[in-house]
Amino acid sequence: MPNDLAYTGTPASPAGAAPTVLIVDDDQDFARSAADFARSHGYTPYLAHSLEQSRGFAQLALMDLLLLDLDLPDGSGFELLDEDALPESGQIAIVTGYPSVETAARAVARPVMEYLVKPLVPEQFGELLDRVAARGREERSADPLGMIGRSPPMQRLGADLRRIAPSTLSVLLSGESGTGKELAARALHRLSGRGGAFVAVNCGAIAPDLLASHLFGHERGSFTGAAGRHSGYFEQAHGGTLFLDEITEMPAALQVYLLRVLESGALTRVGGAGEIAIDVRVVAACNRDPLRAVEEGALREDLYYRLADVHLELPPLRNRSGDAALIARAVLDELNAEHGARKRLAGGSERALAAHPWPGNVRELRSAVRRAFLTAPGDEVRIVPGARRLRAAAEDPATVRFSVGMSYAEIEREMLLKTLAHFGQDRTRTARALGVSVRTVHNQIARLREAGCEVDATIWTERGGPSK
Ligand SMILES: Nc1ncnc2c1ncn2[C@@H]1O[C@H](COP(=O)(O)OP(=O)(O)OP(=O)(O)O)[C@@H](O)[C@H]1O
Ligand SMILES: [Mg+2]
Repeated sequence: MPNDLAYTGTPASPAGAAPTVLIVDDDQDFARSAADFARSHGYTPYLAHSLEQSRGFAQLALMDLLLLDLDLPDGSGFELLDEDALPESGQIAIVTGYPSVETAARAVARPVMEYLVKPLVPEQFGELLDRVAARGREERSADPLGMIGRSPPMQRLGADLRRIAPSTLSVLLSGESGTGKELAARALHRLSGRGGAFVAVNCGAIAPDLLASHLFGHERGSFTGAAGRHSGYFEQAHGGTLFLDEITEMPAALQVYLLRVLESGALTRVGGAGEIAIDVRVVAACNRDPLRAVEEGALREDLYYRLADVHLELPPLRNRSGDAALIARAVLDELNAEHGARKRLAGGSERALAAHPWPGNVRELRSAVRRAFLTAPGDEVRIVPGARRLRAAAEDPATVRFSVGMSYAEIEREMLLKTLAHFGQDRTRTARALGVSVRTVHNQIARLREAGCEVDATIWTERGGPSK
């Protein structure tokens, strides 16, 4: 097949994490020059030469663009379109050397956005690449929810949030720490159209005996230290949204009063007499299963039902296939913009991100990206999940601690660092103790350093400036 794609030298796309394209074509020359062309438009290209190879691509669903040839050695490109692992609709282009009315019609009937005929016209291909890249950037930055994620559970959550936001239904958000409960609460407020303020209260962070006056306000002299009149968070959220975080930490007596306020739509300040009418939409959150909390007595059942007109659960990051890489790229976009840099994820990062269990969820991921960004020696950012945990473990010199959720790679690193420390950085004795060659030890140390970590054999430290 002729290859008419010249390398045009178009400037690479603006700073930001590179968009990705998977080129599925058995014509290797074509695939390679299309890859070069995509690279010149700021893309990270990936190649597959058969259906089988493209199926083996774990990150298929994450590609910004899929360029699909129809005549492949093991079948038609259309077969791939019948499978679930595809990128979201509208990000697929059929490229064929043998255009026909029949295949064009089939393409139109599917979520295919382009039907291109070889040889590709550079202007046309370039325009497609730029359009898809711009869309990806927009998706990552301007999503009205501010929550990044294309995985099925996040799509469902996004749809629920959008649907519920304009109503006055109370919403209870549950999910592990760092999964985005507060972000979801803010999104509910933003999309609610309510003119008042968004007020967030962490019920676990305020001393229990002060919580009532903080929430409901107090009158002068109502208790020791209550100097003047004071309106509480409820009044401040009038016309807006009150976010009650860690609701299960609220003392039981206060839960009773809260329920009364919610039922009556009016409150009485601590030490006050008159009732004050309030119009507040309440969103509550807890990082445990709320029904369990009810069973255990941490959350009153009647209050649970009042708070949870709708109960939404934020899935842990490890159950959002592919989202970790999307979020990492978005965080990189932010950091690049902030620092005027153009760093990008190193090859293989997606696999590493997908393999890590992220016990601290998105919060942990954000700080891992930030740390990797700040410590990357060049433009390639290599994210090393769990570096913090390794350092903590490294503080005890003689014991290696493994916890469920660590990957083999992490366990291996931990083993190596501890053994090196034990033998006073002697690589030969370390190798002997671990039953590997000295060369393996050398290589492992080199890999750790490459990943942006300083290995001085006694402690694991993070190179570079402070991280969040
Ligand atoms: N889907 C997402 N896309 C982008 N950023 C996210 C997403 N979810 C969470 N974050 C970010 O992760 C961090 C933690 O989120 P958030 O504070 O909302 O979590 P949380 O569930 O309230 O955690 P905790 O239970 O510890 O209070 C924040 O910086 C937030 O902006
Ligand atoms: Mg929170």
